[in-house]
Amino acid sequence: MSSEPGGQGLASTGRVSRLGDLDYAPAPESAAIVSIADAYGLYIDGHFTDPERHESFATLNPATAAPLARVARASAADVDAAVQAARRALPAWSALPGAERAKYLFRISRIIQERQRELAVLETLDNGKPIRETRDVDIPLAAGHFFYYAGWADKLAFAGFGPDPRPRGVAGQIIPWNFPLLMAAWKLAPALAAGNTCVLKPAETTPLSALALADILEQAELPAGVVNIVTGDGATGADLVDHPGIDKLAFTGSTEVGRQIQRRLAARGLPLTLELGGKGANIVFDDAPLDEAIEGIIDGIFFNQGHVCCAGSRLLVHEGVADEVLRRLRRRVDQLRVGDPLDKNTDVGAINSAAQLARIGELVAAGEAEGATRYTSACPLPAAGYWFAPTVFTDVAPAHRIAREEIFGPVLAVMTFRTPEEAVAKANDTTYGLACGVWSEKGSRTLWVAQRLRAGVVWANAYNRFDPASPFGGVRESGFGREGGRHGLEAYLDV
Ligand code: NAI
Ligand code: MG
Repeated sequence: MSSEPGGQGLASTGRVSRLGDLDYAPAPESAAIVSIADAYGLYIDGHFTDPERHESFATLNPATAAPLARVARASAADVDAAVQAARRALPAWSALPGAERAKYLFRISRIIQERQRELAVLETLDNGKPIRETRDVDIPLAAGHFFYYAGWADKLAFAGFGPDPRPRGVAGQIIPWNFPLLMAAWKLAPALAAGNTCVLKPAETTPLSALALADILEQAELPAGVVNIVTGDGATGADLVDHPGIDKLAFTGSTEVGRQIQRRLAARGLPLTLELGGKGANIVFDDAPLDEAIEGIIDGIFFNQGHVCCAGSRLLVHEGVADEVLRRLRRRVDQLRVGDPLDKNTDVGAINSAAQLARIGELVAAGEAEGATRYTSACPLPAAGYWFAPTVFTDVAPAHRIAREEIFGPVLAVMTFRTPEEAVAKANDTTYGLACGVWSEKGSRTLWVAQRLRAGVVWANAYNRFDPASPFGGVRESGFGREGGRHGLEAYLDV
């Protein structure tokens, strides 16, 4: 582990810089642009209402561990009220001409764009991810999804699902904490375009951007009951799954909960989409453009603190370039700026919760105990809040837990290969199948590999690229169904 003296930077900002002692002055985004209420109710039938049992819980800022607001915990009766409101709103909403529904979606997209600075700060405060990412990725893509599906609303007859495709009805939608507003948009936009009404359950550690979205829906004058937002934890989610009044369920989260949900719904034959975990392989061949590949590896595992289902959490590198790749990779890891998520120069923000930090710690300890070699950036970490320094494991065996289990944190497991066949075998040696990356200058080799990878998404000379027009989803234990693109409509149409 290199530990050149950090010099001047350390004293002023608490950061060590290894690039010729260059350092950055703090550049924090102001939090003054958002006003967070002390407490939030449930958004049901176009109003914020108190939960039936008057129960609430706190959502924290993971960068400080300080509470931001209290949020309502919905009971089964509250979930029932939300489903009934969605049911009442369904006939009028689904009967609207598609072009009319599109106007609402365009409006929502535009308001998200208008309020994007506020939303970026709010998301960063509640989630812990860097403002650079909320500003440049989460919020613009959320707006992009509403914009994209607005375009489909009046063209459903041309989407390839028959001349007059009908909505499923009331959609129950449960989302995780890693991309809170973006996951809400992935769920709501295609459902609304297709004429469904929705009950959305945000994750318990990151409910605030969905509640801000409720305010945006009001601003867009979306008819009451078309979207209902019920906050709570897994019990609230389970109440939504079990509600007999839903016609469709969409879930993004852990494979374990996805499995439970599928089991519970087995007897009901309810249409289900599951977007679950992953253990993506980033495959780097010896003819890859190395500078780009290093950036792709970094982006693949350290983007969003590695809280990414499609993260490139396994690096498979061609033996001949392994030493060179690792040398460059360590140097780049040392340059990652970890700290205040509101600082525009921050690359890696806070871990979302104490529970997630404990899970990352447990798996990293298992990696060390099983004999892998750990390299962790020497960057200083803030004293309060939840943090984990970027970490790279070498000497990883395919049987190690760090090579098999989803860590969902800034931890990379590196393995090598000698032939394309071996790369494919190692990449496919997982129970998951969400995403992979292939780095090579040779198109024929990239295609040969991509055709043999068992994964829903394969990026070529890129990683973690998302676009509303591009379908996303997994195979095997990463789930089924697609979100995004024309394919994403299918989940919400009675085809
Ligand atoms: P989780 O699967 O428990 O939570 C995701 C959502 O499901 C949340 O809204 C939660 O309230 C809800 N939920 C929890 N239990 C439920 C139940 N029984 N019925 C219905 N809804 C339920 O995931 P968690 O505990 O936050 O993270 C655990 C691990 O899962 C992570 O370490 C990571 O490996 C994986 N994960 C994967 C995600 C992905 O994007 N594929 C997102 C979040 C977590
Ligand atoms: Mg929070």
